[in-house]
Amino acid sequence: MQYTPLHWTSDYETGIEEIDLQHHYFMTLINRIEDEIQQSTDLAYHKRLLDELCKYASFHFISEENIMHKLGYPERQQHYLLHRNLLDKLSWALVQHSEEKFIGFLHDWFLHHTVTEDKKVGVFARTVN
Ligand SMILES: [Fe+2]
Repeated sequence: MQYTPLHWTSDYETGIEEIDLQHHYFMTLINRIEDEIQQSTDLAYHKRLLDELCKYASFHFISEENIMHKLGYPERQQHYLLHRNLLDKLSWALVQHSEEKFIGFLHDWFLHHTVTEDKKVGVFARTVN
């Protein structure tokens, strides 16, 4: 499976420094892990790499949720559910041993959630700061 690397553009910027730094690292990690998966035939190692991505996603979501909580972001409950939903999909793909689905869910997420849902948090932050 050939994965297309993600590229950072200013479209991804929410304006909240902590979130932007984490998104930037998240994208770098996704690209690096896809590279490593393509270069290795060791399936146990693949699983460890996907686990690394899951753990980072989980860390990042909690971090983002705490920022939303601190800001008093009114749509945070709905946003938390979107995070849970992606984590559930990633876990499901792991159980199914489907690296392709796992990577696909993550790409879709990055390309859509960051530029819609996360940007709304940035817009709200500018109204309260
Ligand atoms: Fe988010």
